[in-house]
Amino acid sequence: PRFVTAANGVPGEHHIHIEGALTPELLFKLASSNAVQLPTDDPAFRSVASLHQRYSEFASLDDFLHYYYIGMSVLVTTSDFEALACDYFEHAARDGVAHAEVFFDPQAHLVRGVSYKAILAGFKIAQAHAFEKFGITSELICCFLRHLPVTDSLATFNLSELQTSIRCGEVVGIGLDSSENGFPPTLFKDIYQQAKALGIRRTAHAGEEGPPSYIRDALDTLEVGRIDHGIRLANDPALLERVAAQKTLLTVCPWSNVFLKGAKSVSELPIRLFLDAGVQFSINSDDPAYFGNHYILDNYCAVQDAFGLSAQEWKSICEASIHGSWCDEPRKQQLL
Ligand code: HPA
Ligand code: ZN
Repeated sequence: PRFVTAANGVPGEHHIHIEGALTPELLFKLASSNAVQLPTDDPAFRSVASLHQRYSEFASLDDFLHYYYIGMSVLVTTSDFEALACDYFEHAARDGVAHAEVFFDPQAHLVRGVSYKAILAGFKIAQAHAFEKFGITSELICCFLRHLPVTDSLATFNLSELQTSIRCGEVVGIGLDSSENGFPPTLFKDIYQQAKALGIRRTAHAGEEGPPSYIRDALDTLEVGRIDHGIRLANDPALLERVAAQKTLLTVCPWSNVFLKGAKSVSELPIRLFLDAGVQFSINSDDPAYFGNHYILDNYCAVQDAFGLSAQEWKSICEASIHGSWCDEPRKQQLL
């Protein structure tokens, strides 16, 4: 199966935060070119090597997020966002990714005075390049930061540039990320209702560190079509059965869960449970530059090393991944 997936490529990635593809190498390069001061009181920022080392010692989601937000502070110009996304697409091409649905966190850039237009312009150049050079199709999903006041997310959602990007299809959906515990999905009901009225796709991180009730709330209150992570579903058999029956796709990120101490090893993840219960899931990288440089194929291989799946099981994972993608029907048919 390692050969099978590598030879056939990876049909789709649904859970990649573009800011999480910022390597320490690019981080230091952009800090220098943009004259961004990195924390002087944190020895992790002494060198590329010390930063890599620190990234291997995250204690939790919040410990990671601290570095994630400092890291992205070096992203300032359109060409920075372009370079970041091109770096990701080159890794994706190497892994044989056919289609990528990419999260971005506008609030974390707007707050530093970066314009929405500058962010999107960089991504669009990289997306065109990925298609021309590698044939990779891609979509953008705008995420809201749950640790900030909901009013901040609402104001961002209502920015005219953002609304325009939704209306013209440059952004196909919304997501919800950042610190999970203490920030239930229900807080974001208004935005999700507005997004539904606009007819765009909706997903939310739920059940990464948070309880299964957050997964239920995301389904019932936010009316999401997908759940990002969702591994805590394993703790609620009735909800598990429901998610399997309604075929909601979970975007599972194995190495992320291990790096953020949600699981001791990939073998602890409920992959076998999900397969046996008929839960649809895809395998994804989340923040590859922060999680041991494990891009999507490394995540596929880690699942194979831990669970020794059959070729038929891989086929079902790949098919679920394609059916759960937010590309158009003709593209799905090409991928199947
Ligand atoms: N969880 C929540 N927020 C995030 C993540 C994640 O795994 N990655 C980037 N932002
Ligand atoms: Zn994520």
